Amino acid sequence: MRGVFDWLDSRTGFRAARHHLLDEPIPSGVGWWFITGSILLFLLGVQVVTGIVLTMYYVPSPESAYDSVRFIMDGLPFGALLRGFHFFGASFIVVAALLHLVRVVMFGSYKKPRELTWMTGVLLLLVILAFALSGYLLPWDQKAYWATTVTINIARGTPVLGEHVANLMRGGADLGALTLVRWYSAHVFLLPAALIVLVLSHLYLMRRHGISGPIEPVAGPAKPFFPYHVLKDTIGMAVVFAVLLTFVFSIRVPLDAIADPSDASYIPRPEWYFLSLFQLLKYFPGPLEPVATMVIPGVVVGGLLMLPFLDSSPHRHPFRRPVVMLCFGVLGLAVTTLTTLGLRDTPPEAASQWTPMAIAGQALAADERCQACHRPGGAANPVSELRLRRDPEWIAGHLADPEVIAPGLRPAPPGGLQPAQAAAVVQYLTLARAGAQPPEVSVEERMAATAFARHCVNCHQIDGEGGAFGPDLSHIGQTRDAAWLRAWIADPSEVDVLANMPGFSDAMSDTELGVLSDYLAARK
Ligand code: HEC
Ligand code: HEC
Repeated sequence: MRGVFDWLDSRTGFRAARHHLLDEPIPSGVGWWFITGSILLFLLGVQVVTGIVLTMYYVPSPESAYDSVRFIMDGLPFGALLRGFHFFGASFIVVAALLHLVRVVMFGSYKKPRELTWMTGVLLLLVILAFALSGYLLPWDQKAYWATTVTINIARGTPVLGEHVANLMRGGADLGALTLVRWYSAHVFLLPAALIVLVLSHLYLMRRHGISGPIEPVAGPAKPFFPYHVLKDTIGMAVVFAVLLTFVFSIRVPLDAIADPSDASYIPRPEWYFLSLFQLLKYFPGPLEPVATMVIPGVVVGGLLMLPFLDSSPHRHPFRRPVVMLCFGVLGLAVTTLTTLGLRDTPPEAASQWTPMAIAGQALAADERCQACHRPGGAANPVSELRLRRDPEWIAGHLADPEVIAPGLRPAPPGGLQPAQAAAVVQYLTLARAGAQPPEVSVEERMAATAFARHCVNCHQIDGEGGAFGPDLSHIGQTRDAAWLRAWIADPSEVDVLANMPGFSDAMSDTELGVLSDYLAARK
C-alpha cells in the first residue's frame, strides 16, 4: 500500500498539498466565531449537490417547468425532500452569509492586508442574492411569475438604462419562454461560474494572509488547522445540518397554481430576505422609486465594498471603531425594522377564505365522476389545473350535467351538482387559482363539510352559503346537541311526524352521520 501512495505522491505531490491545505497553523485563541465561513461553504456545497440532481428532472420551458417541479414533489422518490434542501438551503445560506459578515465586521477582519478578501466576500453575498432571485422564477408557479414581473419592473425603473436591462432580463417583449431560459441559464451556468471563481479567490486570499484571529493576540502556540479547528468546523456544520434537516422534514415547500399571465390580481410576495427592500419601495412611490431600488442599495453596497478603505485605521477592537459600529448598528436595525414591517403588512395566509364550502368544493371536484375526464391524460385538464376561463353560467351548467359538453341542451339529470354545490366548486377553484394553499383541516372536518355539501347545502345555509328551503344551520349547536342532530338527520319523521325534511340514514354511512352531527353541534 505504501508503495502505491509513494508512487502517487511522486507523480502528484499530494502529500505536500495535503500538508499545505490541512496543517496551516492557526493562531492561538481562534474560537467558535471562526466557523461561520466553513458553515457557509458547507451550505453552498449542499446547494450545488441538490441543484445538480434537480437539473436532472427540471425542464426549463413554460409548458413543462411547472409539471416537472410537480413531478419532483409528488412523483420522484425523496423528490419533495430534495427540493426542500434546495429551498431551505437558500435561506440558510443567506443567514450564514450575514452571520459571517457580522463576525468579520465585529473582529475587524476586513482591515489591511485583507481588503481584497473582504471585497470578494461582498461580491459573493451579491452572487448569493442573485442565485436566490433567479431561482425564484424556475418553478413557474403564480408566485414565481408575478414576483419576477415585479423584479423586472424594478429593473426597468433604472434611470437611462432601464429599458435595456429589462429587455435583457426578459429576452423579449413579455415574460415568457425566453425569460425562463435566460434565468435558468444564469442560475445553473453564469452564477455558479461566478461563485466558483469568487469562492476560490476568497479562500486563496484567506490562506495567503492567514486567519485574522482574535482581536487581541492570545499568548500560546499556534496549532495546526487539522484536527483542532477542523473539529470545531465539523461540529458547527453538523448542528446546522441538523437544523436544516428539521426544516426539510417538517415543512413541505409550497408550489402555487401554475403561472397565469392573465391573472394580474395575484399579489406576489418576495422571499423574506428581500422583504426589507420590498418594504422600502413602499416609501418611495412613483418617480422616487429609484431611490429605494438603486440609490439606497447602491450606497449600502458601495459602502460595504469600500469599507476597508473608509476605515483604514489599524484598530480592530469594536470600541476603537465607533463610527463603523454605529453605521452597522443603524443598518442592521433598519433592515430588521423594514423586514418586520414587511411581514406585518403581509396579509395572513388565505386560511380564513377557506369556508367549509370551499373545503367541500375541493372534495366535490375530486369526485370520481369528475375524475373520469379531469385527470392527467383524460379528456379534460385535471381539476387542479382548471383556470376558470369559461363563464360562470357555462360552468354551472357543466357541473349540473358534466356529460354534455354544451350544457343546457337537456334537463339536468339527477346526480349532477346543484347550483349551491357548483358554487362550492367554483369557490374552491378560485382560491386554488389564486394560489391559496388549502388549510390543514382534520379528516373529520373535511368529511363533515363534504357531506354537508353533498346532501344538505341545497336546502340549508352555513355562513351565508346554500339554499333557503330549511332553517339556517350556522349556529345550530346553540339549540341542538349531537345526539338530537344525529337522530334528526337519520330520519326526521322519527323525531317529528310532520317533518318535511327527507331522512339520510340510507344516503350516509354511520361515520358520516356521526361526524356531520358532531360538526353541526360544535357550531355555536
Ligand atoms: C365527460 C367528461 C367530463 C366530466 C365527467 C366532467 N368534466 Fe369538467 N370539463 C370537461 C371538458 C371537456 C371541459 C372543457 C375543457 C377544459 O376546460 O379543460 C370541462 C370544463 C370544466 C370546468 C371549466 C374550466 C374552465 O377553464 O373554465 C370546470 C370548473 C369543470 N370542468 C369541473 C368539473 C367538475 C367539478 C366535474 C365533476 C362534477 C366535471 N367537470 C366533470 C369534461 C368533463
Ligand atoms: C330537501 C331540503 C332539505 C334537505 C336536503 C335537508 N334538509 Fe334539513 N331541514 C329541511 C327543512 C324544510 C327543515 C325544517 C323542519 C322540517 O320542516 O322538516 C329542516 C330542518 C333541519 C334541522 C332542524 C333544525 C331545528 O333546529 O329544528 C336540521 C338540524 C337539519 N335540517 C339538518 C340537515 C342536514 C344535516 C342535512 C343534510 C344531511 C339536511 N338537513 C338536508 C330541509 C332539508
